[in-house]
Amino acid sequence: MKLILLGPPGAGKGTQAAKIAERYSLAHISTGDMLRAEIASKTPLGIKAKSLIDSGELVPDEIIVGMVQNRIQQPDCQNGFLLDGFPRTIAQAENLLGFSDIDCAVCITVPDEEIIDRMARRRVCPVCKNTYSVDVNSAEHFFCEACGAELVARDDDKPETVKHRLDVYAAQTFPLVNFFREKGLLEEVCGSGTVDEVAQSIFKILEK
Ligand code: AP5
Ligand code: MG
Repeated sequence: MKLILLGPPGAGKGTQAAKIAERYSLAHISTGDMLRAEIASKTPLGIKAKSLIDSGELVPDEIIVGMVQNRIQQPDCQNGFLLDGFPRTIAQAENLLGFSDIDCAVCITVPDEEIIDRMARRRVCPVCKNTYSVDVNSAEHFFCEACGAELVARDDDKPETVKHRLDVYAAQTFPLVNFFREKGLLEEVCGSGTVDEVAQSIFKILEK
């Protein structure tokens, strides 16, 4: 299977991608995670990408397209892959379809108010990158269940940046919903249930 997970920031793409990739033994390719790894390693690409990501802007298409094209040639993608956060512009989607076929694009939809609440609660493990949702009213510190590291907020999860990311999504990424619909590849899923409810809806679609 060659899949795309579409949806606004905070829709639960990363959360669901982990479940889908495990169930169907697919390589999980998150362009956001790849860029954050470049930032952590202070590579030239990471240094260039950091200010764009922190301000909620997209990284230029030519950088992202080359990164994904290389990534899907790796041996772990031979059994199929799941793209999380790519494509994000029409140009990226047209490039992708030039170098790979795609079986299905699943779009997870969640209302903006719910997204803003989720982003305020999101904490990530700086070591193993696991994502959590915490009680923001608690004075406690939070630690990763897998490795014990203290959880942190993402630099682009500040409320103002989240609002801008939603605008960028509406202007540049939302048009992909029609793009894939016109190609007969689109499936839409309501992302407002529990994590397991959303996962079950996606599995049902993929097993059709
Ligand atoms: P990226 O990392 O891809 O961010 P995003 O698309 O904005 O999406 P998020 O990762 O914020 O959210 P998500 O949908 O994965 O939700 P999650 O599962 O974490 O990209 C970051 C930046 O990199 C971009 O802004 C851009 O600058 C750059 N970039 C990346 N790809 C690019 C590209 N292709 N082109 C150009 N630039 C690119 O869930 C969110 C929270 O909600 C978590 O706390 C989670 O625990 C919780 N949650 C999940 N599901 C549920 C549920 N069902 N109920 C309640 N809470 C839930
Ligand atoms: Mg994500």
